[in-house]
Amino acid sequence: MKVLMVCLGNICRSPMAHGVLQKEIDNQSLNWSVDSSGTSSFHSGDLPDSRSIDVARKNGIDISKQRSRLFVKSDFNDFDLILAMDSSNYQNILKLATSDEDRNKVKLLLNYAYPGENRAVPDPYYEGGFQSVYNMIETAVFKLVETHK
Ligand code: 4NP
Repeated sequence: MKVLMVCLGNICRSPMAHGVLQKEIDNQSLNWSVDSSGTSSFHSGDLPDSRSIDVARKNGIDISKQRSRLFVKSDFNDFDLILAMDSSNYQNILKLATSDEDRNKVKLLLNYAYPGENRAVPDPYYEGGFQSVYNMIETAVFKLVETHK
């Protein structure tokens, strides 16, 4: 299973989701891979936000080697599952889809924890709340692994 985590800037939410899933892949020796990207290029090439790095580190995960990159059309070919943090990311990803196969790969991450509720991982860039964002991402990633492994 190849999983791509997607948010807006690829510096706050999706790097945490990427790191949490990578840790589960390692812990459970899963034959999976994970990457992350953003629907904007504002932060392309940047490290994750220092607040995301700090929260991840407190939870035993090093995300400091990640670099932000833009979500691109070819990601539909390279990944089995494309997980959006909120409905805006979701819509922007779908704009680049060219087939039902592409569209079927795109899901909201929190629907693994709260099926059918279409909840968003709130953007913590301005509002803060990185630990609470981390917790909801972790809950959903654990369910994701249980669902597909
Ligand atoms: P992210 O958070 O989408 O979780 O990486 C954001 C990061 C940067 C901006 C917005 C959201 N920004 O406007 O620069």
